[in-house]
Amino acid sequence: MTEINARLRLSREEMRRLGYAVVDTLVDYHDAREKWDVSRVPSRADLAEKLSESIPMTGSDPLSVLRRFEEEIVPNISHVDHPQFYAFVPGPGNFVGAMAETLAAGFNVFAGTWLGGAAATETELVVIEWLKEICGLPPSFGGLFVSGGSVANLTALAAARHHLLGESFSKGVAYCSDQTHSAVDRAFRILGFPSGSLRHLRVDDRFRLDMAALEEAIAADLANGMKPFCVIGNAGTTNTGAVDPLDELASFCSARDLWFHVDGAYGASAAICERGRKVLTGLEKADSIALDPHKWLFQPFETGCVLVRNPVLLRETFRILPEYMQDTVRESEEVNFCDYGVQLSRSFRALKVWMSFQVFGRDAFEAAVEHGFEMAEYAEESILRREDWVIASAATMGILSFRYAPPGIAPRDQDRITLEASRRLHASGKAMVSTTTLKGRSVIRMCPINPSTTREGIDRTIDQLEDIARGLRTR
Ligand SMILES: Cc1ncc(COP(=O)(O)O)c(C=O)c1O
Repeated sequence: MTEINARLRLSREEMRRLGYAVVDTLVDYHDAREKWDVSRVPSRADLAEKLSESIPMTGSDPLSVLRRFEEEIVPNISHVDHPQFYAFVPGPGNFVGAMAETLAAGFNVFAGTWLGGAAATETELVVIEWLKEICGLPPSFGGLFVSGGSVANLTALAAARHHLLGESFSKGVAYCSDQTHSAVDRAFRILGFPSGSLRHLRVDDRFRLDMAALEEAIAADLANGMKPFCVIGNAGTTNTGAVDPLDELASFCSARDLWFHVDGAYGASAAICERGRKVLTGLEKADSIALDPHKWLFQPFETGCVLVRNPVLLRETFRILPEYMQDTVRESEEVNFCDYGVQLSRSFRALKVWMSFQVFGRDAFEAAVEHGFEMAEYAEESILRREDWVIASAATMGILSFRYAPPGIAPRDQDRITLEASRRLHASGKAMVSTTTLKGRSVIRMCPINPSTTREGIDRTIDQLEDIARGLRTR
């Protein structure tokens, strides 16, 4: 080994020492997540004081660096995989997925071209077939792994724009409910549409896109010489879990030659279980779908996926072949995923899903998703048993929301106490919920989909919110 090479390598002994120590650290963590505070959010100044340093000119013992990770970083992050983390969209992850990520990085698998990673590409194609099967999609569908829902939505909408509008898209308009995730707005911004090209339409009392509003908006746009080209339906909104009328939207779009995209980043995975499939009827009729295994399929982050009815359109949208990539063009049946999305160098994300499904089996995932539905329903029952709280949005696709509403307290004070109760719960470190605004009122939003979440943990969290709210009321 040359001296230079030796300086960027560990000996076999050192690799083992570090590798085993990393695994021990993870096993201890996965085995006792409940011991940790759910969330600690130190100030920027505190962390800068702890972590700022100039670039190390000489190396240190790997175990001492690992110790610094354990002591300085782990205690100062939110544990989104904690059973009492109910905020936003929890990230329970899974140990096999984490090991798969280690293997993908350890072999530094390149999943951008067939030449660079043939078996990784084939495995990704296999996992895409699994996701298609879970969602009940027709055989023509194809897709690829991306970082997450934001890029999945962007990728699909880029294909929709390219296919239906070509290069003159300044009059192109698209439609979605006012509950749609901001990732879709951002996609439109990145794609260069003039602001306002994405119409946010009113919803019904269950936060689902109102079909009459859609018809009116399209008629008005056509009358004004605009070019409607796409409707975005939600398969589980972030706010309330609402599922737009996907079946109706699909027929509506097909009758008008509009692209029907479904943002199922959060909810499409629920199709793995019976009741998810029922709620998601019509998903299979979409032209494109964003689906994040790092949400409701319990994978480590950066496991997103985009599925498209006609994947050739992705290729037409993204493929560019520079001369320095000519060696990657070989047999026609070989797939180069770099032609289907924004990334050339891509890691082997599909391995996380492949390994964890191999180890645990589909049934385990199905049961875990079903558990999320049940936990949200249980939380709703727990709220309904209490006099001082009201449900703001019923348990839907593993999400519910509620607010503090004792009689005799002005709505403004109810809102203030609701928000403050969430803030203080978070500060306690015992649990974390998030807040949002529904119909102009402040509400607490809970997403108890972590497979380790229990009824007892939910009751404990709501008891705690109640205690905090009572204390605030008497002030
Ligand atoms: C419905 C929905 N769409 C899109 C996104 C964005 O996904 P990501 O954070 O993976 O980019 C989210 C994130 O929570 C989401 O819930």
